[in-house]
Amino acid sequence: MSVINVGIVGTGIFARDRHLPSYKELSDKFKVVSCYNRTRSKAEEFAKLADIPKNKVFNSIEEIVADPEVELIDALVPVQFNLDVVKTCLKAGKPVSLEKPIAATMQQARALVKLTDDSDVPVSIGENWLHLESIAALKKAVKEIGPIVSFTYNSTGAFVTKNKYLSTSWRQHPEHIGGFLSDGGVHQLALLTSVLGEIKSVSALTKQVRKESGADDIVFSTVKLKSDVIGTFTYGSAFGQTNKWTVFKIYGLNGSVFLDISDKKEPKITVFVGGCAEENLKNETITVKEDESFGVNAEFVNFYQAVVAKDKNLILGTPRTCFHHLACVAAFLESSSKNGDHVDVETV
Ligand SMILES: NC(=O)c1ccc[n+]([C@@H]2O[C@H](COP(=O)([O-])OP(=O)(O)OC[C@H]3O[C@@H](n4cnc5c(N)ncnc54)[C@H](OP(=O)(O)O)[C@@H]3O)[C@@H](O)[C@H]2O)c1
Repeated sequence: MSVINVGIVGTGIFARDRHLPSYKELSDKFKVVSCYNRTRSKAEEFAKLADIPKNKVFNSIEEIVADPEVELIDALVPVQFNLDVVKTCLKAGKPVSLEKPIAATMQQARALVKLTDDSDVPVSIGENWLHLESIAALKKAVKEIGPIVSFTYNSTGAFVTKNKYLSTSWRQHPEHIGGFLSDGGVHQLALLTSVLGEIKSVSALTKQVRKESGADDIVFSTVKLKSDVIGTFTYGSAFGQTNKWTVFKIYGLNGSVFLDISDKKEPKITVFVGGCAEENLKNETITVKEDESFGVNAEFVNFYQAVVAKDKNLILGTPRTCFHHLACVAAFLESSSKNGDHVDVETV
């Protein structure tokens, strides 16, 4: 099995705390060989952690992409730069993994999908939640509950003042639509839509609770899926003291499925089977194991397979899939600006 040489663009928090450990865990597939960061001193610190030689700390994205040793770019930059990064990588024919959300605006997201549609070079969006074990387990469980009628999704929590991500200036003054609503919301939408399919339209109210968020930070909505299933989607961690709660309940004609993924290491799925209150054929809870990387390792393996096979169709986190998640956030914001009017989610 060949080892792919990776060049890191953007050596910030997530590159250091999650991507580098994942590359080390997957050393039979990847080797981090070079890096570039806007502030060079941070790239040099990262290089020490990653055993990158000094002459492989580059001064521009053009230089790192042009290095013949680099076979794949992993970019972890503020997402308003994703489109520029893709343009540079595709020009050089180098596969690139971008971090989520796909882009800062719908205009950029549209352009990114078009660019990647027109190229055979593999491009992956790092929505690691797309790769959760819980999704496979839920998909299996919902087969037991008959036709699906509706659902409720709620991911809410208390505002964390010491959140390491809050200190990044690009999050404090977000250029990406919805600030934290798109930053973390696309993960929730990835889980929801991977199990139940894409969202057709939404009616939402959003609000900014914390000035530190820089934009609206909670959303309460009703949504209609393309399959005609209806449900509610609630998201935000801007509240006062409360328990961290991420739950997803799916109602069918022959039962229901309840995922509680509030404890990320040990999500629990409860399956109830029966066609009415009097019929109780099953009430069983299983525990799903998610690893420490919470989908990132699986995301990397998925991209590895696509790059080795030179087949972009193998990628799970395609720009088109992830476009939908940002488009949902855009629809929440538009609906809220119209006092909750129903808004169709943009398709591309
Ligand atoms: N999948 C997940 O769960 C997850 C979790 C966290 C973050 N992320 C994503 O990872 C990315 C990085 O986030 P982070 O939390 O690591 O933020 P961060 O610590 O601020 O890192 C961003 C890095 O990008 C660099 N940068 C800024 N502007 C740049 C430009 N124009 N060109 C090149 N580099 C530039 C910054 O350099 P300076 O040192 O000069 O500021 C910084 O090192 C974001 O896209 C974020 O959405 C994903």
